[in-house]
Amino acid sequence: MSEELAWTQEKKARFQEDLLTWYHLEKRDLPWRESTDPYRVWVSEIMLQQTQVVTVIPYFNRFMEWFPTIEELANANEDKLLKAWEGLGYYSRVRNMQHAAKEIVETFDGKMPSNIVDILSLKGIGPYTGGAIGSIAFSLPEPAIDGNVMRVYSRLFCLSDDIALPKTRKVFDKYVRETMSQTEPGDFNQALMDLGATICTPTKPSCQTCPIKNYCEAYKTDMTSSYPVKKKKEKAKPLYYVANILKNDNGAFLLEKRPSDGLLADMWTFPMKEVTKEEYDGLSQAYDTVETSTKMVAEQLSLYDDEKESIKDKQLLGIVTHIFSHRKWHILVVADTLSVSADNCLNNQEWVYLDEFSQYVFPKPQQKMVDILKKSMNN
Ligand code: ADE
Repeated sequence: MSEELAWTQEKKARFQEDLLTWYHLEKRDLPWRESTDPYRVWVSEIMLQQTQVVTVIPYFNRFMEWFPTIEELANANEDKLLKAWEGLGYYSRVRNMQHAAKEIVETFDGKMPSNIVDILSLKGIGPYTGGAIGSIAFSLPEPAIDGNVMRVYSRLFCLSDDIALPKTRKVFDKYVRETMSQTEPGDFNQALMDLGATICTPTKPSCQTCPIKNYCEAYKTDMTSSYPVKKKKEKAKPLYYVANILKNDNGAFLLEKRPSDGLLADMWTFPMKEVTKEEYDGLSQAYDTVETSTKMVAEQLSLYDDEKESIKDKQLLGIVTHIFSHRKWHILVVADTLSVSADNCLNNQEWVYLDEFSQYVFPKPQQKMVDILKKSMNN
């Protein structure tokens, strides 16, 4: 049962003070907290959306070195931009950031706007990021509601709304808006983030050390493990591939640029071919049928039609699996050696030596393939 928001003004003020006092004493020392520069806040919040704080720190520092201002981000070379994001995933986030940086240069004189309507008009800035930028950089009393904050508030008020549903945001928005500090909204929001990350954790929360336990309905009724309520997501759809690591006579590998739209747009990959589950199972179990996959790729890359005979040294190097939001990729990584000359490839392909790989942007599954390849070469 959820408690109606019936707190008195005094209770709200005490709650805010208890939380803020704790934050001022305990706040984590993080590079984006060195100033309230909106650009730094923006970059950090976008990086932190899908990635843990410890992982983000080096990425954040490097990003600030490479693109120190909004203008430099707006003018950044795409390859360098993607390189800066390599390993963080969800590349549309950094592409949207560059798009928004251009809007800021063109429309707002290169400065992040300071009102919430204009902030939210920028590409890739939704209610969470907008609230974080508005509150931290401009002291606007705007909530910044992410999974951590929903966890804290679902326990605080025993809110049973399913946090996996988009419409639930509105419920939490109302509760946070009504209880948040109007004078220190940035610190208040960051206090909730830290509390969610360090004390009000998904399992085994450290309620004894929680600065707001006396306000927490779930703590008082020993119900913290029942909150937040989150219905299971549908399983990611499995897709099956054979990735071919093709090496030519000069020792270079064939890389291919993915199309400019869709998943992992414009990034580099070894040539991949989708197969059915049955084909995948057959290939992964029967090592000697790997030849089939080589034939499939030879057909796919029709320029090799005449060269099928010259295919030699086929080898199954390993298996890569990778989960995106709605898909799970299962990839058989197959190595082939081809007798072809170095300049023989399609328009979107290049023959590349291993020591040049660092100049190419590989999405996560392809990085895993590169690791497999390197390992096989060390054996
Ligand atoms: N998670 C999301 N935003 C954060 C921030 N500003 N500080 C720490 N953790 C966060």
